[in-house]
Amino acid sequence: QKVDMELEAIEKGGFEHFMLKEIFEQPKSIKDCFRGRLIADEAKLVLGGIRDYATALINAERIVIVACGTSWHAGLVAEYIFEEFCRIPVEVEYASEFRYRNPVIREGDIVFAISQSGETADTLAAMELAKSKGAIVLGVCNVVGSSISRVSHEGVYTHAGPEIGVASTKAFTAQLTVLTMIALKTALRKGTIAEQRYREILVDLENIPKKVEKALKTDEQVKKIAEIYKDARNFLYLGRGYNFPVALEGALKLKEISYIHAEGYPAAEMKHGPIALIDEEMPVVVIATRDSSYDKIVSNIQEVKARKGKVIAVVSEGDSLIPGMVDHTIEVPGTHEVLMPMVSTIPLQLLSYHIAVMRGCNVDQPRNLAKSVTVE
Ligand code: G6P
Repeated sequence: QKVDMELEAIEKGGFEHFMLKEIFEQPKSIKDCFRGRLIADEAKLVLGGIRDYATALINAERIVIVACGTSWHAGLVAEYIFEEFCRIPVEVEYASEFRYRNPVIREGDIVFAISQSGETADTLAAMELAKSKGAIVLGVCNVVGSSISRVSHEGVYTHAGPEIGVASTKAFTAQLTVLTMIALKTALRKGTIAEQRYREILVDLENIPKKVEKALKTDEQVKKIAEIYKDARNFLYLGRGYNFPVALEGALKLKEISYIHAEGYPAAEMKHGPIALIDEEMPVVVIATRDSSYDKIVSNIQEVKARKGKVIAVVSEGDSLIPGMVDHTIEVPGTHEVLMPMVSTIPLQLLSYHIAVMRGCNVDQPRNLAKSVTVE
């Protein structure tokens, strides 16, 4: 028993929980993910794992992404990236829904299966179904040799290292890294992205670990915010564009480990329902970094404030407008908007972590949840 506990303490590397360790590992896990694959000064992306199907990807008329949980959120970000750069229509599906609804799959369709564990039963079944209908199935997995990686035609590993905390953190940012690389490479070969833009984004991607490092410095500040809202019964998370899936993921993290009810919404949808919930008791986390939807999200913040909601805003460094409107601001470094989720998700991971710890929850092994769901 004692030996086990000591071993566990060593594995946690000085952190109180695996989840916190994994959150803080992200500058490194993202780097590990693109190491040897991204050579920004040569404008090169080497993705050996999907070499045989690279042409099929370029010619694909449709991409379908199947996943569950946090991996599904990574899929949503990927949808925006693939559509923007590759001009290929993308659908993101919950694996459990896809597999049971007789989906339309044509020969040559590309199906991405995203999974940290590589063992999620619904994702595996969805892939097998897609394969049987003639699709090319590409895996984005973290666990080497996992079932999903074996069933895929080809795939790209995320190489984030073992993730022990049930709530996924570093696997998510690694999935975003891989999917961004695949989209950029495909777009360049397809001729749907200008070379200059491609080069710029590669440089920005290479700088993401440094930006994540900086975003992690918000930890103390986020902890203070957690102290204020730890007893809230509900939370709303809002984002637009690339930050919309980040809102969903922020809400999921909070639910999973603190057992506080939380909902993520695209900010403009707020007026179709969740706005009815807003009063002075309601903390609303708004991801409002500088991007093409900035002005719109500023209006959404005003709508929340007009109803006396408490706004915690994640903003880009140097934002001089939003801090004057909201209750709390958390500044993160700016980057190209397609890469922003990797940075803007960091304070949300920290927020859920601190709230859960303050509420005395079992952060690494939340009740009723499993790290990998191998049954349906
Ligand atoms: C479980 C885990 C989540 C994870 C989801 C999908 O619900 O608790 O953290 O996002 O499964 O898992 P996968 O291994 O397929 O990414």
